[in-house]
Amino acid sequence: MSQDRVYFFDTTLRDGEQSPGATMNLQEKLRLAHQLEVLGVDILEAGFPASSQGDFEAVQAIAEQAGEIQVAGLCRCVPNDIDRCWEAVKAAKHPRIHTFISTSPLHMQYKLRKEPDAVLAMAVAGVARCAAYTPNVEFSAEDASRSNKDFLCRVVEAVIDAGATTINLPDTVGYAQPEEFAAMIEYVIKHTPNSGKAIFSVHCHNDLGCAVANTLAALKVGARQAEVTISGIGERAGNAALEEVAMALTVRSGYYGLSHGIKTEQLYPSCRLLAMTIGQSIPANKAIVGANAFAHESGIHQDGMLKNRETYEIMTPQSVGRLHTDIVLGKHSGRNAVKTKLESLGYALEEEQLNVVFEAIKNLADKKKKVHDEDVVAIVLEEIYRIPDSMRLRHVSVQSSDSGSIPPTAAVLMDVEGQERSGAGFGVGSVDAVFNVINQIVEREPELESYVVNAVTGGTDAQGEVTVRLKHDGYSAVGRGAHADVLVASARAYVNALNRLAKKERDGDTKHCQHC
Ligand code: KIV
Ligand code: ZN
Repeated sequence: MSQDRVYFFDTTLRDGEQSPGATMNLQEKLRLAHQLEVLGVDILEAGFPASSQGDFEAVQAIAEQAGEIQVAGLCRCVPNDIDRCWEAVKAAKHPRIHTFISTSPLHMQYKLRKEPDAVLAMAVAGVARCAAYTPNVEFSAEDASRSNKDFLCRVVEAVIDAGATTINLPDTVGYAQPEEFAAMIEYVIKHTPNSGKAIFSVHCHNDLGCAVANTLAALKVGARQAEVTISGIGERAGNAALEEVAMALTVRSGYYGLSHGIKTEQLYPSCRLLAMTIGQSIPANKAIVGANAFAHESGIHQDGMLKNRETYEIMTPQSVGRLHTDIVLGKHSGRNAVKTKLESLGYALEEEQLNVVFEAIKNLADKKKKVHDEDVVAIVLEEIYRIPDSMRLRHVSVQSSDSGSIPPTAAVLMDVEGQERSGAGFGVGSVDAVFNVINQIVEREPELESYVVNAVTGGTDAQGEVTVRLKHDGYSAVGRGAHADVLVASARAYVNALNRLAKKERDGDTKHCQHC
């Protein structure tokens, strides 16, 4: 491996999925994994196979479909976890086992209840077990930034001897500051006699807003793998954002002098896909991919931009993939054009699924002239990649009103557990009326935690994309719906969230804490 290339290790599907409300179903994970490969990520961490049967199956399915990208699974330094992890990743062309154990005094004493020497022995035994399966072994010293540096060096030296080829030093609790974090990385590299035999990696959390800064500072002093997530999602305040690290290395290549394999024009489509998948929109002021990231509001800035873009723009929107260049389909597009477009977007659908998507695109093209890539993705996510629903929306009709004496009304027709049911009722507003009637029909009353509407593309004929978050009995779930009519999108999102909630209740939401 070249020392001047940075390897991007994406953990959106593992650490990212630990972010509240970011759980994805299998199809959604497969779709995102495919996009990570298109984006040029080097290693994708697909999950934590020993944490649940669902995670195991997802990691296995991703490993089976992956191309040249390396597929990692996470496991504690314990034999069962490691064996399960290998079972899940071994089908990949380039599998990796990523094993971890805490090395900070706090974690060793209170979480592991073990003496440092016992932890070191577990780390070595764990890595040796991984290395018996594959030469591609990553070891993480959890809470490295709060660990004793010399103990860290002892552990790192021993695990490299045991077969680890990547050493990850995480700032697990987002406590470190850039200079001290860089100093810690430099110290460990310098004081570990066999450090030249491994790639050093960092994994930074964003609790104090320093995840990207810490990652870049570490790369500057010799780390060569960055563990990141799309849009920075992850446990608590999240992880370092892939798009920010990649663009800092690109725009400031003179400063860092490091190359990477990220295809930057795929950054915006990747963040957009994730946002649509987990139902969390990208904040407007988010670096690189937020709606305002390339908007110039002040007169002085606009004037400067007109004279020379570089006065206020350090990168172009095109360089991060922010243009709707491909207006693709219209009402006269044939089935083949739709199939080709789907394939170019990474969807290999079965005949029956293709029919469903084709019909939905035709319907949309009747309502709006141009169907953009994002519309197509929204349709596929909506029509195909959703969990098998026990509740299905068939029709919704709404009468809005601006008078207090005639409240807005809604009528809804649904299938619930295979039975047709209908209802009608009122609400404070049209959306409230729709949700009330659906509640009546399904005989539930979850709490509506959030309701967000976005336009999938520009223009008044844009598809409305609605996400809702519902809470009931301690479970919460996000639902998503897209349609040219925002009230229909709202009803779809609500029913989607109800289905996800019902599934979580049925499964008892088996996913347990991944750090325990
Ligand atoms: O934050 C962390 O330390 C982790 C490790 C398991 C890599 O996620
Ligand atoms: Zn983490």
